[in-house]
Amino acid sequence: MNQPTQPKGAKHPLLIVIDGPAGAGKSTVARRVAEHYGMPLLDTGAIYRTLALAAKRQGLSWNDGAELARLLPEFPIAFEPAGRGKGPRVRLGDEDVTAEIRTPEIALGASTVSQLPTVRTGLLGLQRRLAAGGCVAEGRDLGSVVFPDAPHKFFLTASLETRARRRQAEFSARRGRDVSLAEVMREVEARDSRDTQRATAPLIQAKDAVAVDSSDMSIDEVVSRIIEVVDSRVRQAG
Ligand code: DC
Repeated sequence: MNQPTQPKGAKHPLLIVIDGPAGAGKSTVARRVAEHYGMPLLDTGAIYRTLALAAKRQGLSWNDGAELARLLPEFPIAFEPAGRGKGPRVRLGDEDVTAEIRTPEIALGASTVSQLPTVRTGLLGLQRRLAAGGCVAEGRDLGSVVFPDAPHKFFLTASLETRARRRQAEFSARRGRDVSLAEVMREVEARDSRDTQRATAPLIQAKDAVAVDSSDMSIDEVVSRIIEVVDSRVRQAG
């Protein structure tokens, strides 16, 4: 379909949330679903990453919840659409930090700051404001905590091995670095357990989320499945 459309009969700004573990294909799927409906994409992981970057620059510890919380009320993050096929650009104040937040160091920082209850609570308002006009949002705890009333919730998973294989391919494509599957599996597993075991807002499937296991599905199939579910619900509601 070439024309992005809101599903017919949608009465409210549409909010579609897609949660799931690292490597399940969330980013690509969320971007494609957002493009299909002509809606903005909210990458909530990028918020945690940008906070980790801001903290590093100010010399703050990624474990210091009180200091990090002080950055949040006026946190100057903004997303700018970058055109079809590309995720939005991320700005911190006047600066484009899109590339800088994707380093392994900042991924570790994001994972660390995201464990802190003050940070998670402090980011609720920002995430809700950014989503207010309707969007496709991707993250870990959106259906369960941030947007419990979202009308369309999905939980995208894939087997550990599938996710590790995808990450391995990404490593060699993006950084020209070959890492063993065993090494990537260990890394993905460690990240899963940090994300699922933290005390505040762990990665969890919301009760009313539709689970999609992408292990044996192509990106196109996953995107079609999500659009099919959203469209059929909107048709039923109208
Ligand atoms: O999806 P990502 O790799 O860009 O996320 C970066 C980190 O932020 C990751 O460790 C999980 C965390 N995160 C989170 O705790 N809650 C979210 N809604 C999104 C990301």
